[in-house]
Amino acid sequence: MDSFLIRGGTRLKGKIEISGSKNSALPILAACLLANGKTTLKGVPRLSDIDSMAKLIGELGCHVFRHEPGGAPQAGADGQPPMPALNGPLDIEVTDEKQCEARYDIVKTMRASICVLGPLLAKRGRAVVSIPGGCAIGDRPVDLHVRGLQKLGAEFRTENGNIIGEVRGRLKGCRMYLGGAQGPTVLGTINVMCAAALADGETVLVGAACEPEVVDCAELLIKMGANIKGHGTPEIRIEGVDQLVGAEHRIIPDRIECGTFIIAAAITNGELELKNCNLDHLIAVVDRLDEVGVKIERQNGTIFVSSSRRLNPVEMTTQPFPGFPTDLQAQLMALLCLGDGMSVVTERIFPDRFLHVGELNRMGARVRKEGPTAIIQGVKEMQGASVMASDLRASAALVLAGMVARGTTRIDRVYHIDRGYEKIEQKLAAVGADIQRVNEK
Ligand code: EPU
Repeated sequence: MDSFLIRGGTRLKGKIEISGSKNSALPILAACLLANGKTTLKGVPRLSDIDSMAKLIGELGCHVFRHEPGGAPQAGADGQPPMPALNGPLDIEVTDEKQCEARYDIVKTMRASICVLGPLLAKRGRAVVSIPGGCAIGDRPVDLHVRGLQKLGAEFRTENGNIIGEVRGRLKGCRMYLGGAQGPTVLGTINVMCAAALADGETVLVGAACEPEVVDCAELLIKMGANIKGHGTPEIRIEGVDQLVGAEHRIIPDRIECGTFIIAAAITNGELELKNCNLDHLIAVVDRLDEVGVKIERQNGTIFVSSSRRLNPVEMTTQPFPGFPTDLQAQLMALLCLGDGMSVVTERIFPDRFLHVGELNRMGARVRKEGPTAIIQGVKEMQGASVMASDLRASAALVLAGMVARGTTRIDRVYHIDRGYEKIEQKLAAVGADIQRVNEK
């Protein structure tokens, strides 16, 4: 198992290219099951979760081919190592529709596997998907996915840990409410939208998620021939079509990776130029960081981040888009640990998503959790320590804290980070971070 060794105290300076969005690419790969002919996706990041999804749709009869990277590695900042070359596009084509089962072996490694449920039911009339188990960030049921597909006419039963779905004839469009106790569901909206794209008649999804990843998937489906309106709003209208055909699409930039690097610049008191960003996807993050005292300027698709030494404390609550994303809660908390006063962070999407609190406290932070809220008393300095990565975003917060802590931080189990941050240590080293991947058996 790999670990990161980070020596804190260096200011980041230089350019970083933001990768394509993991959370957009994963359901989009599953959506490729709906199309006849080849789909070409650009900007798909190289991540272990993407490998898992490619393997899953491969088992479901897709031929998946990654082209060679485009261009040479790009030069790093003065005297720093080069940045990685851009990824080559991915071709996906369904060549065999017999297999309809998503095995536990894959589903247990990646919950986004549930995204094959809607496409399989709509296109093949049958799906067997292992029920995703527990998750480090809390209970993550899939009841809303199943309920939405049931409303389209699919029948479900559970057997031996599997959800088994079947459709007699064709799915039938209807008007439905898709929200749950914690608000809208991102992957649930995408799952039902994908299925409705091939259903008979009109489907109206009320209480749909508005996240940019939902919009990105809808844009691909439209290129494939789907008739979708209202994506990006809480009411999506889908007029089913008889078939979808392969298309070409570029995945949107990863807003969570971008937000993480913005905070990296802020926490190290550095200056970063981030390329391939869409700041409209981060409007609530910019709002909070502005209050903290982080300067963020945009010029077309590039943003420039710098920060003053004094970090103001803030209050923040995670919310569905366009609110502050839960996927950046841990990283913002790392920054607020060094704020000049007391900050309050409330988690409304995954109320138990606080595994980073204990690890940040081991590094000298003063964070106290009360229910879904963390109260953060800013400290002057954090110290390096041995800490454990527990989930993807919590681990990113530890990397951020490690870069500013006095001394060396060792982060174990960085496979969690590799699930969602493409070459994070190379990107950070290229702008001056002292970070190293080690593998001690
Ligand atoms: N929920 C239900 N029932 C369902 C589905 C969701 O009760 O059937 C609840 C969840 O437990 C949660 C809330 O609804 O309280 C919202 O969950 P959502 O369904 O929106 O989450 P998701 O679609 O499973 C995606 C991202 C997560 C991100 C969330 C929220 C992917 C692959 N995952 O998950 O990303 O935190 O949306 O924005 O897109 C990550 O990248 O680290 C990550 C966890």
